[in-house]
Amino acid sequence: MPLPPLICPACRAPLDPAGARVACSSCGRGYTSEGHWDFAPDLVFTDIETPCHVEEQGERLRAERFYLPLLRELADQAEKPVTELRVLDDGCGFGAGVEYLRSQGIDAIGVDVGWRSQEWQQRDPPWPYLRADGRALPFADGSFDAVVSFGVIEHVGIAGESGVSEEVAPDYQEHRGRYVSEALRILRSPGVVVLSQPNGSCPVDFWHYAGRVPARWHSPRQPFLPRYRELARWAKEADSAVDVESVSPHRLLAFERIPALELAPGESPSKDLGDERQHRGGAQVEGDRGQLGAFERVGRGRDR
Ligand SMILES: C[S@@+](CC[C@H](N)C(=O)[O-])C[C@H]1O[C@@H](n2cnc3c(N)ncnc32)[C@H](O)[C@@H]1O
Ligand SMILES: [Zn+2]
Repeated sequence: MPLPPLICPACRAPLDPAGARVACSSCGRGYTSEGHWDFAPDLVFTDIETPCHVEEQGERLRAERFYLPLLRELADQAEKPVTELRVLDDGCGFGAGVEYLRSQGIDAIGVDVGWRSQEWQQRDPPWPYLRADGRALPFADGSFDAVVSFGVIEHVGIAGESGVSEEVAPDYQEHRGRYVSEALRILRSPGVVVLSQPNGSCPVDFWHYAGRVPARWHSPRQPFLPRYRELARWAKEADSAVDVESVSPHRLLAFERIPALELAPGESPSKDLGDERQHRGGAQVEGDRGQLGAFERVGRGRDR
């Protein structure tokens, strides 16, 4: 299946790309494709670069064990086969989740603006990925049945668009609100947006712990990690008709255990582990760390 209809992310006029360049006939902005369309040419999300195949494995397992069952439910509700669903992974990272969903016949597409996109070329197939900002998506209204997002919204609205900072920009609420409203805008009905991130109300954060082994402790008032009430508010502000619910993280945090992950005091797993140590001999286990660290929220699209 080809890409869904594209729009200019700046002014939302329809785009009609032919070849590797397109100019918006309304605002004149230009976009190019070098293998993948770049709809966020001025935005680079910076992050520590690690060839972290554990993270990639997590993307795949999450798609298999958590997203796919959820998508089957949605397909039943929509009274169509799951293979007729179109899904956006909004901040898809390496794209392994998209690859898995496509292997199941689902029309999955990924967007991201960070270094992990370098791996898209190795995906099978390599094309359904775009550089695009979750706050200004290049898709027409109602183009997707589901939008999934894991570990992205807490990095939206961070000063300097940096994955290594926890300092929010003064207008971070606006940025996060836009991220949620864009996900809802491109959703058709019945549809579902799944947002997951470590819960800001929980003082333990297992995900952003560089240098703070074994976890990051923070005040529940620190604004970096969103709380349920904030997510619900952003969703309701975007569309008062959506239902917002908290769902169980069961099977969400499937990951590959790294047997060699015994860190010396002060050693940072995200910086110091070589590919070798990350990659080898992992027993596949399912994590239930969600009880402490992460929860996900679901918004359902209204009838359009
Ligand atoms: C912690 S990684 C999670 C990747 C993937 N979702 C996963 O499950 O492993 C966060 C990702 O969000 C991406 N990201 C950050 N800000 C974004 C934005 N405004 N729009 C799209 N992607 C963004 C980063 O480039 C990075 O790949
Ligand atoms: Zn335009």
